Amino acid sequence: MYLVSPNFSDVLEPNIEMKAFPDSDNYVRIPDISKYQGEEVNLFHRLYPEQNTSIFQAILMLDTLKRVGARTTLVSPYLPYSRQDKTFKEGEALSAQVLCGLLSNAGAQRLITVDCHFLKKEGDAEYGGLNITSLSANKLLVDKAKEMAGSSDLEVISPDMGASYLVEQFGGKSMNKVRGEYEEGKEAYRKIEGVERKFEVEGKNILILDDMISTGGTMIRAVENVKKGGAEKVYCAATHGFFLRESYGKLKDICDGVFVTNSIPCEAADVDVMELLGTYK
Ligand code: R5P
Repeated sequence: MYLVSPNFSDVLEPNIEMKAFPDSDNYVRIPDISKYQGEEVNLFHRLYPEQNTSIFQAILMLDTLKRVGARTTLVSPYLPYSRQDKTFKEGEALSAQVLCGLLSNAGAQRLITVDCHFLKKEGDAEYGGLNITSLSANKLLVDKAKEMAGSSDLEVISPDMGASYLVEQFGGKSMNKVRGEYEEGKEAYRKIEGVERKFEVEGKNILILDDMISTGGTMIRAVENVKKGGAEKVYCAATHGFFLRESYGKLKDICDGVFVTNSIPCEAADVDVMELLGTYK
């Protein structure tokens, strides 16, 4: 059996009622709840955008299902807070662990997600008390890039070592990203000191593949690097696209193609994650 949250309505017909009370508290209702009593249920609900609200909605739905004895698998293609799995400064929160613990305690027997940042590999894992299956969109993204380039003659590389698992099966190499201190101001963002490359790209068509494009800082530095090295055509792809700080436009201006999956709905979404998640319907 499966349930679909309204924030998945671009790909599946929703069957959960989601509103807000006048003071903005979340209201969640699963119609015909008795149908799910003791059943295996796959719950399709995105945890981004508006992650703090979406996470709480997930907790409410999971708990509602737990109360009737359903065994629920949460299907959320992007896991927010997944980059806060390590501390950089003393006293920082381990947000990734906290979130996984909350989802598990609320009743998630498993999370099905795509390219979970802290796992850095495809497959099953247990983290923060939560069972996770992380699927990878890498093959779909590489196929799309080949179609876009009109050629299979593409070298697939990653902009940092964390994303090397995405490119390894295509014989791809990885650059090395060096992050520095936090920028001044209200946003917690660690500056990129540089992106280093120890392999040749001259005259090659390149696909730079990452798990996510957030502010675009990583991808922009990576494109600049390979262009300086004499790359011919350059494409950028990632599983999850936030495109903050107007980075979609900035990237389009400097390369031959930019696209992501619809794990987060956005203008650049050109690959359907349902090709991966469809089996959980
Ligand atoms: C981090 O290591 C990730 O794999 C991405 O490279 C990173 O989160 C992208 O962030 P941004 O677009 O802000 O550079």
